Parts: sequence; C-alpha cells; structure tokens
Amino acid sequence: MSITTAPAPALREARVPEGGMYEGVRVLRPFPEGWEERPYEHIEVVPQTRVIGAEIRLRGGADLSRPLTPALREEINRALLEWKVLFFRGAHLTPDEQAAFGRNWGELETNPILARGAREDIVRFEKGGSARPTYENVWHTDVTFRERPALGSILQLREVPPLGGDTMWADMAAAYDNLPGEVKARIDGATAVHDFIPGFARFTEREELLGLQEQFPPVEHPVVRTHPESGRKMLFVNTSFTTHIVGMGREESDRLLSLLTRQAHVPEYQVRFSWRPGDIAFWDNRATQHYALFDYAPHRRVAERVAIVGDRPF
Ligand SMILES: [Fe+2]
Repeated sequence: MSITTAPAPALREARVPEGGMYEGVRVLRPFPEGWEERPYEHIEVVPQTRVIGAEIRLRGGADLSRPLTPALREEINRALLEWKVLFFRGAHLTPDEQAAFGRNWGELETNPILARGAREDIVRFEKGGSARPTYENVWHTDVTFRERPALGSILQLREVPPLGGDTMWADMAAAYDNLPGEVKARIDGATAVHDFIPGFARFTEREELLGLQEQFPPVEHPVVRTHPESGRKMLFVNTSFTTHIVGMGREESDRLLSLLTRQAHVPEYQVRFSWRPGDIAFWDNRATQHYALFDYAPHRRVAERVAIVGDRPF
C-alpha cells in the first residue's frame, strides 16, 4: 500500500497594486528636531491631534479684535510653528479687525481671481449665494502658483450651514518625515512647476484666464521646502497647482506626484475642524494642505479669508 502525501499548500501571491497599501508605524512629532519647548504665558494651547491643530484660548482678557502685544504675537507665532493650524473660537472679527490681525505677520495679499469681501485684501467664499462658486474640496496649499506663496491664511466663518462644512488640514512635515528613504532620495533637490490654470480653469472663463496667465507664469518651487522659521523639511506639492516635476518624463512625474500628493490623505497627519459662526482658523500655509468639505448644499456657507504674503520657498 502506497502512502501519498498531499502537496504542500501554495500561498497565494500577496500582490498589492502599486501604491495600494501603506500602513503601520508612523513618525508623529509636532516639533522639529532640537526644538525647544517652552511654556506659554499669554495663551492656552489645546492640541487637537498628535501633530497638527491646536485650539488657542487667550488669557488675561486678551481679544483678537485689539492690537496684539509683542509677547502675545510671539506666542501665537510659536504655537503656529508648532501646531501649524490654530483655532480661535468665537472671535467675531470685523473685516478691518481680521485684516489688522493678519498684518501682524506681514503684508496682505490681494487675490486676482476669487471674489472679494468688504476690503480689497479679503477673499469671500460664499456658497448658496450670489458670489461666483468656487470649490475648495480638493487637497491644496493656497496660491502656490505665486512666486511667493502665502505665509499663512486666516479664515473666519460668517455663516455656517446646519450640518457639515468642516475644513481639514494635513501636516506636510509629517508627510515628509514618513516617506520611504528611497522616495526622499528621489525628490531631494527636485523642483516642480506650479500653475494657477489647473486649479482655476474649471470655474473661470477662458478670457479671464488668458488675461491672467501673463501675470502668473508657471513658477518652480522645491518639491521639499525648508520652513524659513522652524528649519523643518516640508513636502510642498499639491493637486490644485503642481503640474509636473522638472526633468522627468510625464508618466514618471505623474506617478511620483500621485504618490506625493496622496500623503495629504493619511488620517494620522490630519485635523478636522467643525465651525461655528465667528470662529477663526489661522494656518501656516508653508507647512500644510487643506480641504474644505462641500457636503452642505443647498445650504449657505460664508467664509472670509485674508492671506499674508510669504517668502520664496527654498
Ligand atoms: Fe484654500
């Protein structure tokens, strides 16, 4: 009688489509290496996640509608560098006060494309109203098509829909930190082209685009920028405005950009904020991407933004 042995079971191939799985331990540190953490005296900082987002409560009866003392300005700036987006509940600033708050960080931008609010330097996002509809439900960094993209943006919600209308931000330092070494090596020293056309073409007339394209030629920025104040490396490409990586064929550039821009989608790098009227978010546009959820139609949502002129990324 012969004994037959069953063939060893074959394990099915653990094939994952390219870019299809990314799990496990992530490096989650809010501060750059060597950063000196100091206590705050003028504000209370309430972090909302491990790496990004903090609610700021002013101490001693301070109020954002009044001029900031140098000490208060310094602490808000330090919190911005550490937490990348700050939330101030119930600030209820007038347009002039919102602009004055922004000017503590520098000159304010005017935006040639988006609808204006009460002042030239205020952009108004109004859904369900008469303003031109634009859509911000895509991961992006503001105005990277400029030679000097905004340092930061300060957004206030004036009307909030009954449900929905949250905004999310993603930490581009965490996104960079967690890239595989071989990807970091590929993008080290690389530059990418940014252009306003892809981000705005969907809701802007051709004639207007033609008029603006000379004012805003495509610009090159490093794929990884160094934060001018914290010295930290930040991934600096986004879906709205980054068209291609310089010196790569279209297919290679598309694949790499797809991988890089997808990093904003990782939940551990994100914070989500539910607005109430008069709330303000102040984000470091050098260190983050954001996504404004559009889940509230046909209700109204009205927001006003000032943006501070930044420096040339390096
Ligand atoms: Fe934006």
